[in-house]
Amino acid sequence: MTKPIWIIHANQLTTLASNHKGPRIGKAMSDLAIIEDGSLWIEKGVIEAIGTTQELAKDFADRLEEAEIVDASNHLVTPGLIDPHTHVVYAGSREKEFEMRLEGATYMEIMNAGGGIHATTRMTREATEVEIMEQTFIRLDSFLQHGVTTVEGKSGYGMDLETELKQLRVMKKLQKQHPIDLIPTFMGAHAVPPEYKGKEDEYVDTLIHEWLPIIAKEKLAVFNDVFCEKGVFTPEQSERILEAGKKWGLVPKIHADEIEAYGGAELAAQVGAISAEHLLKATDEGIEKMAEAGVIACLLPATALYLREEAAEGRKMIDAGVPVAISTDCNPGSSPTTSMPLVMNLACITMRLTPAEALTAATFNAACAIKCEHLVGSLEVGKQADIVMWNVKDYRELQYLFGVNHVKAVWKKGIQVVDRGE
Ligand code: NIG
Ligand code: FE
Repeated sequence: MTKPIWIIHANQLTTLASNHKGPRIGKAMSDLAIIEDGSLWIEKGVIEAIGTTQELAKDFADRLEEAEIVDASNHLVTPGLIDPHTHVVYAGSREKEFEMRLEGATYMEIMNAGGGIHATTRMTREATEVEIMEQTFIRLDSFLQHGVTTVEGKSGYGMDLETELKQLRVMKKLQKQHPIDLIPTFMGAHAVPPEYKGKEDEYVDTLIHEWLPIIAKEKLAVFNDVFCEKGVFTPEQSERILEAGKKWGLVPKIHADEIEAYGGAELAAQVGAISAEHLLKATDEGIEKMAEAGVIACLLPATALYLREEAAEGRKMIDAGVPVAISTDCNPGSSPTTSMPLVMNLACITMRLTPAEALTAATFNAACAIKCEHLVGSLEVGKQADIVMWNVKDYRELQYLFGVNHVKAVWKKGIQVVDRGE
């Protein structure tokens, strides 16, 4: 029998607890429901009780000796971070393109010349399942080291049925082998593969009629995502793919308005997408429609920085009533990072989110963007004990001391999986 864990004396315990069910909107994004001198009682991987150290000492007075005590004096304790948008399952690397972009080539030029997504697709098609698993495992370890305990992952570096299935099956296996929870998204519509150049609608038909049913029947994905962008998939094609996915029970997500304003935010509202991603170029009308429909804006400030683009208008979106989540977009081209703490820093610096909003965007709202908020994203009784202890005292310090990994320890389902010492 594993012992209960009793975390005591946290300088700040940001619980993010609330009676409100859906994603936090507007002012509610600033309410971290902080307990000072905070304490948690963890048993069988679940949070049994939460309160001040004094309260829990009283409630568990007859069981204190059973527990393993973790002294969190002078430390901040938060829910495990959640990354709701990644392309973490792939083979190979693209450092040459990084250099090419610095020398003046654009992201779309590289992609249209057969690089970019196509380059990773070639490497992922050629790699064995074991090779992809090994490479992805290392990235998941790095996520964990940065305080991330749940990660969404997309297919989309196959764009043929065999490799799309290979990516999704790798996720299923990693879900069993790695402590991180991996939530799978089908993204066959990540680009038009070279075999279908000039026959884009034929590719869309194949996706809809042949691949989606197989993926849904094998229960390999929860979400269905599309790169709706000029030169990739039109809003009409994107709509067809997302509506077809809905019939199979797959929840829509959209890479929207990343490079040009293309009606992606509006489409997200129209099809009832759970989230729209990127949104660097989203129009005011698109933002308004997302607010009305309750679509979560999943913003990726590390990608904007890496592509040397102006970040999305996160401040404006929160003020307009759009629920905002943030993510690494971890991928080998536009954002090769696993650092959610850096993404929180950038959300503050480049999008003017406040430190509290950035933490909500990386925890509870991120959980909502992948429909996991009943299990994770806040510290509440009955939820998974996914917890991070940081080498800072205050949540504002976490956002202020930027570009540094402040993680001290991580627990996943009540098991300590990271110990970074003093
Ligand atoms: O979200 N925009 C499309 N897809 C990824 C990039 C993938 C890649 O470059 O390999 C993104 O940024
Ligand atoms: Fe992406």
